Amino acid sequence: MKTKINEEFKQRFGAEGTMYASAGRINLIGEHTDYNGGFVFPGAIDKVIMAELKPNGTDKVRVFSIDINEYAEFGLNEEDAPSQSWARYIFGVCREIIKRGGKVQGFDAVFAGNVPLGAGLSSSAALESCFAFALNDMFNNNSIDKFELAKIGQSTEHNYCGVNCGIMDQFASVFGKKGHLMRLDCRSLEYEYYPFNPEGYKLVLLDSKVKHELKDSPYNKRRQSCERVAARLGIETLRDATMEDLDKVKSDITAEDYLRARFVIGEKERVLAVCDALVKGDYETVGRKMYETHEGLSKDYEVSCVELDYLNDIAKECGVTGSRIMGGGFGGCTINLVKNELYDNFIATAKAKFNEKYGHEPVVIDVVISDGARKCE
Ligand code: GLA
Repeated sequence: MKTKINEEFKQRFGAEGTMYASAGRINLIGEHTDYNGGFVFPGAIDKVIMAELKPNGTDKVRVFSIDINEYAEFGLNEEDAPSQSWARYIFGVCREIIKRGGKVQGFDAVFAGNVPLGAGLSSSAALESCFAFALNDMFNNNSIDKFELAKIGQSTEHNYCGVNCGIMDQFASVFGKKGHLMRLDCRSLEYEYYPFNPEGYKLVLLDSKVKHELKDSPYNKRRQSCERVAARLGIETLRDATMEDLDKVKSDITAEDYLRARFVIGEKERVLAVCDALVKGDYETVGRKMYETHEGLSKDYEVSCVELDYLNDIAKECGVTGSRIMGGGFGGCTINLVKNELYDNFIATAKAKFNEKYGHEPVVIDVVISDGARKCE
């Protein structure tokens, strides 16, 4: 990928720039909790967006996407927003840095990636973090701290891409560390690295290939439900609510909002239980919690789909330790924690059964927990 980017850059811009990368992410547990002030448990993966950049001495950004095979050129003022949606991520990052008093000047860039698109692995956060990191290095002497870089990506989603997301994806992409998952408290922004090397188990993703796109999905509506319930309870976020609190206002809120909040409150407990279990190396409990999360995401939060529920059923039948839909939902993939000796049978069974029912195999994505945003030597 590096060579491909390098050659394209040389050909297009007749020079050589600096190479940066940032990663997609997985999330072991803690879904739809970030915008509720709760806990998440993500890690960066070995699938990245990589970009070569060089200041061009003008006030224009000129950028080429190898994977989409498209070129975009835009200025750095608010009214210069490009029309291509992929370019809006980069434009948004530039604008958010400028809005915070940071410096961005014209630059040339070429980028490519191997984070599968629409699979719920946060290719967009990888793109935002890669450019935020690069522009911080290139124009700001790395004076913008890492949390601010993550927030620049998140604000880009809010203000330029129409997704009212939480901080998890951009956090994971910026802070990722090889071999470690991270528990982030999305209210205090305190975080802790957890070594993650489950001996005897593999972590594998199965991509249903059902298109996952949060922009026009009811993702923002889920968030509104949570905010309504929190407002009814007189608290800032559902982080501060218990099941008892929720039950007290049950008759004042819609049945749908009740289910959404029930999931979020339960998920908070599950993340904490998983942290304890991980410390003890108790992967059976981790797995059980993953199944419970799937159940909640499917029945209460209603962000699953028949294909993902089917993959979850197959995992259960094959004796997989833990399995659940991962990320925002509405398609994408399941994350599975499977014992080494069951792996081959699980993959073969999932492929065959899914193919029989939906006419195509799920795509197997093996992931290695890796570093986040960085300059590539
Ligand atoms: C998407 C969002 C995140 C988070 C997850 C669900 O990935 O970008 O902020 O809300 O969905 O956990």
